[in-house]
Amino acid sequence: EEGQTQKAAGLSKHKKKKRSGDEEDDDNKYDFVFEEEQIDFVCVDTNKGYDNRKKRQSKKDEESVKAIEEGGDALEMRPATKHEKILEGRKKLPVYPYRDDFLMALKDHQVLVLVGETGSGKTTQIPQYLHEVGYSELGKIGCTQPRRVAAMSVATRVAEEMNVRVGHEVGYSIRFENCTSKKTVIQYMTDGMLLREFLTEPDLKSYSALIIDEAHERTLHTDILFGLVKDVARFRNDLKLIISSATLDAEKFSKYFDDASIFMIPGRMYPVDIYYTIAPEADYVDASIVTVLQIHISQPLDGDILVFLTGQEEIETANEILAHRTKVLGSKIAELVLCPIYANLPSEQQAKIFEKTPKGARKVVLATNIAETSLTIDGIKYVIDTGFNKETSFNAKTGMESLMVMPISQAAANQRAGRAGRTQPGKCFRLFTAYSFQNELDPNTTPEILRTNMCNVVLMLKSLGIDNLLAFDFMDAPPPETLIRALEQLYALGALNDRGELTKIGRRMAEFPLDPMLSKLRTELDRSPHNVILMVCSPLSPGKTVIVSEKYQCVSEVLSTVSMLSIGTSVFYRPKEKKVHADTARLNFARGGGGDHISLLRCYREWAETDFSPQWCFENFVQVRNMRKARDVREQLEGLCERVEVDHTMSDPDNIEAILKAITAGFFYNTARLGKSGDYETVKQRRAVYIHPSSVLAKEEPLPAWVVYFELAFTSKEFMRQVAPIEPQWLVEIAPHFYQESDVQDSKTKKMPKSK
Ligand code: CDP
Ligand code: MG
Repeated sequence: EEGQTQKAAGLSKHKKKKRSGDEEDDDNKYDFVFEEEQIDFVCVDTNKGYDNRKKRQSKKDEESVKAIEEGGDALEMRPATKHEKILEGRKKLPVYPYRDDFLMALKDHQVLVLVGETGSGKTTQIPQYLHEVGYSELGKIGCTQPRRVAAMSVATRVAEEMNVRVGHEVGYSIRFENCTSKKTVIQYMTDGMLLREFLTEPDLKSYSALIIDEAHERTLHTDILFGLVKDVARFRNDLKLIISSATLDAEKFSKYFDDASIFMIPGRMYPVDIYYTIAPEADYVDASIVTVLQIHISQPLDGDILVFLTGQEEIETANEILAHRTKVLGSKIAELVLCPIYANLPSEQQAKIFEKTPKGARKVVLATNIAETSLTIDGIKYVIDTGFNKETSFNAKTGMESLMVMPISQAAANQRAGRAGRTQPGKCFRLFTAYSFQNELDPNTTPEILRTNMCNVVLMLKSLGIDNLLAFDFMDAPPPETLIRALEQLYALGALNDRGELTKIGRRMAEFPLDPMLSKLRTELDRSPHNVILMVCSPLSPGKTVIVSEKYQCVSEVLSTVSMLSIGTSVFYRPKEKKVHADTARLNFARGGGGDHISLLRCYREWAETDFSPQWCFENFVQVRNMRKARDVREQLEGLCERVEVDHTMSDPDNIEAILKAITAGFFYNTARLGKSGDYETVKQRRAVYIHPSSVLAKEEPLPAWVVYFELAFTSKEFMRQVAPIEPQWLVEIAPHFYQESDVQDSKTKKMPKSK
């Protein structure tokens, strides 16, 4: 089974303790939580924030607040309405006193770099200011966000401030969800979405102003946008461009945008005391839970807690354990309001983190690094920083991208600490040692572009007509080998011809949003135990599969299969007490052959035939929630097929070979052959790989000689997950740029292996 991880070990320890605790009486539990498990911290330094600037600013600030109060006299006779209160709140934000200065500066400069501490009002206020003075009459005001959650929540907030419905004057567009209309004048969107808009509107003429927000995050999409908007701004003098960042290293942005002026919003930061653990912590999830309770017991109730974890799985685990423990402690402690927040949390639940903490309770926000800069939660006084983050990294040599838990940078740690001092002096508890901070953390976070697979970006740039990638104006150019690797992959996938030009298939692939597929994949990756490394070979593979399926006349089947793959193994559940039943149900889908891919397809098809019945899911040990997700992805893909003119109704349900050929056309990198020893090795790179025990092929006799797999998971071994049998000669037929006859010939006899 998948790795016995450190974290898992730590958690099972918890569960055991919890269980034995259940038998004891309550008093013992109290001791157990707070004495046996105390973590010793030492306060080493204080993060003084922007203290000096605060002084300079405060006078002006007071004046403006006074002015507002004077002007607001007429309202004093009756209690303020909710909306009036919101408007008052707007005026108290650090950016407010600088509104006119900013608008003036923007009049004089086409490009501005805007710098202000998180929470100062850049994201929510600046677009409104532009709207208020009439920019929206010239075109939309666009504002990009690296994260979907931020785009949604910020749009909702701004709509509320403007007293309109989200989707009307204020909207957002993220992958899988377009919440805008003809009326929309302020549009929040992910950076990836704006990037896609270049495909249909290369001069972005529907916009009068663009805010590239959270620029300091340096996501891949933001970095590419820099190059593109810089270019557009050169020939569109009427387009205003604001590069907005929460950190002070604005000089780099300014320099890149031809020495653009920098506009600073002085922050209101209170000092934050930084505590480190005396000894390293073996299990940071465990340690964070203990620290939450420790703070809750020992510190006054007037401040909420923000915990930085790395992903959904960890957050859910921490949430569960904390909920259980506080329940056990009952009225011995004040109430803890637990608020998880991560990218895929349903939006209704996301709103909860912004709700006011009830009297006599304390809020605990369990967040990914989404709360580092893109979301501001008021009232946070304590930050618990695990020191980790989930990051992609790309190995140009193997061509594989992985997502893994990595230590954060010193800059990120300081940013996280700053979250504690927004409204009052705060405390930050780092779950690592001062030594580790000084000696083991990198000073700055590496921009994503330097650690990612460039495949889809290169394809997108090519389809925008940017042929010479080496000449593209990158802020930090990716290493040439990464670019070359991407060109090679695109050539092998048939997206580029041998002169490096976009082919017809490549043009269609560029239309396919592969980042959403990937982001779905990421969701799945996100759910896996934190020290499992998963590798998905090329982000373009699913799209290629869909496009090619037209040729094999099985588009409908492939759409279902790919949608199910993008949701991952979490479709099936296996309750402890019913393992045998669950396994039987699962193997039923495998009947008739075709491995995991076709099993997933059968599962989807049967569910569709019952008219998407939840009862059917229940009976077949299938997670209805995940099935619905797959259905959503499938609908999206169908829509895309229409746009790219792939006939998605084309269907031949029983032609397994055709379906597997289409899969192979996208995933031909991910192939392995059975060796003499009874183990598999990958065809090109010859690494030893194993069929994951969860695969329907795991116990097959005899094992298929050749397989294609969806992804590799690294735990104790390199496991192939989602595996299907293929015929070796398909490889030469389908991917002639990549496989030669010699690759698929039996090494001994030099003859083509016989097919069934
Ligand atoms: O972009 P920046 O970090 O400078 O600040 P912002 O996101 O514009 O947030 C300004 C203020 O708006 C925050 O301090 C929150 O009080 C409030 N806000 C909110 O209540 N709900 C949101 N979804 C976003 C912001
Ligand atoms: Mg912001």
